[in-house]
Amino acid sequence: MKTVKIGLLGLGNIGTGTYKTLELNRDEIESTLKAKVDIVRILERDVDRDRGIHVPPEKFTSDPDSIFTDPDIDIVIELLGGIEPATSFMLSAMENGKHVVTANKAAVAANYPRIMETAEKNGVMFKYEASVGGGIPILTSIDGPLRANKFHEVLGILNGTTNYIMTMMTKEGLDYNTALKEAQAKGFAEADPTADVEGIDAANKLSILMALMFDQYVHPEDIPTTGISAITKEDIESARADSCVIKLIAKASKNDDGSLNYEVRPMRLKESHPLASINMEFNAVFVEGNAVGELMFYGKGAGPLPTGSAVMGDVMEIVRRVL
Ligand code: HSE
Repeated sequence: MKTVKIGLLGLGNIGTGTYKTLELNRDEIESTLKAKVDIVRILERDVDRDRGIHVPPEKFTSDPDSIFTDPDIDIVIELLGGIEPATSFMLSAMENGKHVVTANKAAVAANYPRIMETAEKNGVMFKYEASVGGGIPILTSIDGPLRANKFHEVLGILNGTTNYIMTMMTKEGLDYNTALKEAQAKGFAEADPTADVEGIDAANKLSILMALMFDQYVHPEDIPTTGISAITKEDIESARADSCVIKLIAKASKNDDGSLNYEVRPMRLKESHPLASINMEFNAVFVEGNAVGELMFYGKGAGPLPTGSAVMGDVMEIVRRVL
């Protein structure tokens, strides 16, 4: 039986969730692929951290080139987070003929055209399902079963941390800082949660969605963005008095002349609105296509195992398609 060899960049929350997903479902994954799957090398400095998994120490390396130039490695999974060095590493991996899978929305959104060009030029697959909506298969659906549509609009709750915070403040009366600490402890938040609470993470995801849906790349820094850090208990109570909830919403729509409108900001939604009942770390993405009509995707948008599920799904798709 063939063995698919993987180099993993980063064994933080999502790296560990990916490793656990593979261990949890190894029998099913390998029998589906009719191939063994081996994470052979891991770029990670923190070798001693207790992650609740057993990783043979010889798999760890501090030399990224030992992964990119290893002719035996088929796929590189990038889970370092942040724009650099993650982008340069992904480009190097592709230039060395490796297929790449990532969950890194900041890197993908900041460098979308360059990454896509590099994948095409080098004849490798680049998969990034986990970068938007955690475990929700939104990108694959847009690029596959929904490809025959022209899209008018996308509206979503795209950040699990802020949705968790808003839910805990609204339903449990928690204060902002306690709710944020809980979201961090559960592995939802970015290393620097400023990206979550200021809406930057949601803007990264909206940029990726727009590139795929509308074939127009908008740099995330050009998306008007307001986060939730200024929302107070009084704002939440005042919304409640009007039968509304406050949610961090990412929104884009296409005008008749082809131009786009886009923004990320906290919005008041009527309690009867479909997105008003999306709570905790769940995400929901509403899209409208001219043939399919309205669709809503719902699922866990953050967390090690839901995100690991999407990463491993991409790995499996590469193995099935090209290895
Ligand atoms: N920090 C992100 C979130 C992780 O809370 O949604 C998933 O992209």
